[in-house]
Amino acid sequence: MHTAFEPTATWYSDARQYWKDVPSTVEGMLGGLGRLTDLDVRDSTWFLDDTTYGLDCGAGIGRVTKQLLLNFFDRVDLVECTGKFLEQARDDVLKQEVETGRVDRLFHTGLEAFSPEAQRYDLVWCQWVLNYLTDDDLVLFLKRCVAGLKPNGIIGVKENCAVSEYVMDHEDSSVTRSDAVFKSLFERAGLHVIKEAVQSSFPSDLFTVRM
Ligand SMILES: C[S@@+](CC[C@H](N)C(=O)[O-])C[C@H]1O[C@@H](n2cnc3c(N)ncnc32)[C@H](O)[C@@H]1O
Repeated sequence: MHTAFEPTATWYSDARQYWKDVPSTVEGMLGGLGRLTDLDVRDSTWFLDDTTYGLDCGAGIGRVTKQLLLNFFDRVDLVECTGKFLEQARDDVLKQEVETGRVDRLFHTGLEAFSPEAQRYDLVWCQWVLNYLTDDDLVLFLKRCVAGLKPNGIIGVKENCAVSEYVMDHEDSSVTRSDAVFKSLFERAGLHVIKEAVQSSFPSDLFTVRM
């Protein structure tokens, strides 16, 4: 046990001599722990990779990805339940971005059945789609989204808001919720609101749109 660092006079030459005798292999580089190389490189890759990722939920034809999310994030994934919209995104609206890899994964599924990959996203954006989920499915979906966020990741929600708690629409099986109902669901999912705004300049006969 030493309490101070007192290098010997031959400090550097001793190290060089030591390494001269070590085999020129991965095992040699890792002092016999070559089996750890994959784990080592995996975590270093996470550490160095600052590629930013967004997820567009209920992406439709990719309108929000194209006009908004790709301005902020290096890569965007889409999740959407209507196949023809996703095809339009892939083959037309986002064709170039798919080819260059800026649009990465396209998930054809409903949010109620979707689980994002762990710690992948800086932002999960849900716009005009949470009205298609039941309350319980919405809470479970948000909890799964939390698991899909990087450590400083956030969830963005932009939805119509009603004055009364719930306004049902049986034509498209959707429900418009009040701001208070949304907040209680966010709380049930273990989330808290860090920023809020109201969409401006929309026609006055529409629902209020809150972010
Ligand atoms: C009003 S559009 C909004 C599309 C897009 N977010 C935008 O703002 O351009 C609603 C979208 O939600 C999708 N959708 C409906 N129910 C869904 C569900 N359970 N899971 C995922 N997407 C759903 C529809 O197919 C449609 O593309």
